[in-house]
Amino acid sequence: MTANLAVLASGRGTNLQAIIEAWQAGRLPVDIVGVVSDNPDAQALERARAHGLRAAVLPAALYPDRRAYGAALVELLKSWGTDMVALAGFMRLVDPVVVRAFPNRILNIHPALLPAFPGLHAQRQALQYGVRVSGCTVHLVDEGMDTGPIVLQAAVPVFPDDTEETLAARILKEEHRLYPEAIRLLAAGRLKVEGRRVYISPEEVTL
Ligand code: GRF
Repeated sequence: MTANLAVLASGRGTNLQAIIEAWQAGRLPVDIVGVVSDNPDAQALERARAHGLRAAVLPAALYPDRRAYGAALVELLKSWGTDMVALAGFMRLVDPVVVRAFPNRILNIHPALLPAFPGLHAQRQALQYGVRVSGCTVHLVDEGMDTGPIVLQAAVPVFPDDTEETLAARILKEEHRLYPEAIRLLAAGRLKVEGRRVYISPEEVTL
């Protein structure tokens, strides 16, 4: 069975690009049904169009509040037949109405080892704190900010001469590897969630 994946992105879309490339290489058991952005200028939209994918803009300013925005988002995603969602640099906290429409079917990627440094500027927070190791986390989205059950993490070293940019670049490389892998696992039905813990079942071998 193939899952219908929608990707939500607000910015340059390098994670979207990594997802598209993994999908084109036949590594993801999904159909990408479209890309949604809250930002009409997002480079992610251009990347989507360049690959012949549906690209929709849903500007938050058109809606009175987060709930109304969430409801419009759910309507759009459902109209595409979406059954799983990847947030790839989507800079809005999604309303519970969205989370409830796709329970344990929304993934997010965060550029730190959660639960350390949630929220904005995670790489800056890590440098300011002085950690020696940081990384990225793919988690299922719940109603909190970067709080959902953790699917995969990858660590990178933090060096004394790192800047926000050098650290972000080192983490981003891992993001591009990790995110398609997490999407593959969720799409293949290999994630089992018990409370905060996510168990990954082994790949079935067909002889
Ligand atoms: C990434 O660092 C991701 O972890 C965070 O937002 C950034 C998006 O980058 N959530 P890109 O738009 O995928 O290049």
